[in-house]
Amino acid sequence: MKLLVTGGAGYVGSVCAAHLVDAGHDVTVLDDLSTGHKDAVPDGAHLVHADLAEAAEEVLAEGFDGVLHFAAKSLVGESVARPELYWAGNVVTTFRLLEAMRKHGTPRLVFSSTAATYGEPERVPIPEDAPTRPTNPYGASKLAIDLAMTSYAAAHGLAAVSLRYFNVAGAHGRFGERHTVETHLIPIVLQVASGTREAVQVYGDDWPTPDGTCVRDYIHVDDLADAHLLALQHAEPGKHAIYNLGSGTGFSVRQVIEACREVTGHPIPMTAAPRRAGDPAVLIASSEAARTELGWQPHRTDLTTIVRDAWEFTRSRPA
Ligand code: UFG
Repeated sequence: MKLLVTGGAGYVGSVCAAHLVDAGHDVTVLDDLSTGHKDAVPDGAHLVHADLAEAAEEVLAEGFDGVLHFAAKSLVGESVARPELYWAGNVVTTFRLLEAMRKHGTPRLVFSSTAATYGEPERVPIPEDAPTRPTNPYGASKLAIDLAMTSYAAAHGLAAVSLRYFNVAGAHGRFGERHTVETHLIPIVLQVASGTREAVQVYGDDWPTPDGTCVRDYIHVDDLADAHLLALQHAEPGKHAIYNLGSGTGFSVRQVIEACREVTGHPIPMTAAPRRAGDPAVLIASSEAARTELGWQPHRTDLTTIVRDAWEFTRSRPA
C-alpha cells in the first residue's frame, strides 16, 4: 500500500515506519521535526519535512491508500499547563488531516490513541468499553479525535482504527526513544545507568499496590508496530474500531528499576519523591479485542527483553 506516516520521525512513528518499509509498503513520512529526528526516518521511506495542518491537503492529493497518524503532542504535564497546544496541535491538526483525507478520498486511517482517554479506571484490566473520563487535556484531545473518527466513519465511510497504547517501551535496533524532555520511566532509569542522570525519583511509595509504587502495563514497541500493520489490514470502510494495546501484565516502578539494574549491572540509586499529579495507581490493558479481532499476539512481553532492547539503543547513542 502507498501509506502516509505522520510523525514518522518520532519514537513510535519511526519504528512503525521501519516495519511498514520491511513489509514492502511504499512509505512517505510527514514530520515537522519539532520533536522527531531526521535520522530516525527509516531507509526506503521518503521524508516530507512540513507542518501537518498546512501540508495535509497538498500531500494527500498525490493519492494514498491510508494514513498512520502518530504526529502529536504527548506530554501530560505540558497539556495541563498549556492546554491550547493540545487542542491546536492534536485536535485542530487532526481535523485538517481528516478533511484532507475526505477531499482526496483516502480510505484508511490508523490513529495513535492512548490509555489516557480512560483516566482513573474503575477496574483493571481496562476493556475498550470502560468509561472515558480523561484527567488531563492530553487524554481529552486524543478522545476528541477518537470521537471525530467515529463520526467520519459513519458519515463518510472512513475505515478507521484507534489503537490505545498503554506504556510503550523498548526499541527496534537504531529506532528508539530519545526525547529532549524525557518524562518516561524506562528512559529516565537508563539515563541513570548510562551516567547522564544521578538518580531516579520514585513518584510516590504509598500507593495501594503490592510494593507501594505505581503499576503500569509495558508494551514493546515492536509488538505495538505489529498491531499497526494488522489494524491496516483489518480496517473496514464505515467502521471505527478501537483497540487497547498492552501486554496485560502490570509491573511496578520498583520492579522496572530492578529489571534495569539486572540488565545494566548498574546500582541505579533512587530517591523518594511526592506522587505526580494525575497518575493513576494501576493501569493494565485488556487487549482481548486486539487478540481476537486482529489476531494480534504480543511476543516481547518479558520486562527484561523490553529493558534490554531499550538499553542497547541507549548505549548505541552518543552521550
Ligand atoms: N515515574 C517515576 N519516576 C520518573 C518517571 C515516572 O516514578 O522519573 C513513574 C510514574 O509516576 C508512573 C510510572 O513511573 O507511575 C510510569 O510513568 P511514565 O511517565 O513512564 O508513563 P505514564 O504511565 O505516566 O504515561 C503513559 C504514557 C502516556 C499516557 C499515560 C496514560 O506514556 O502517554 O500512560 O495514563 F498518557
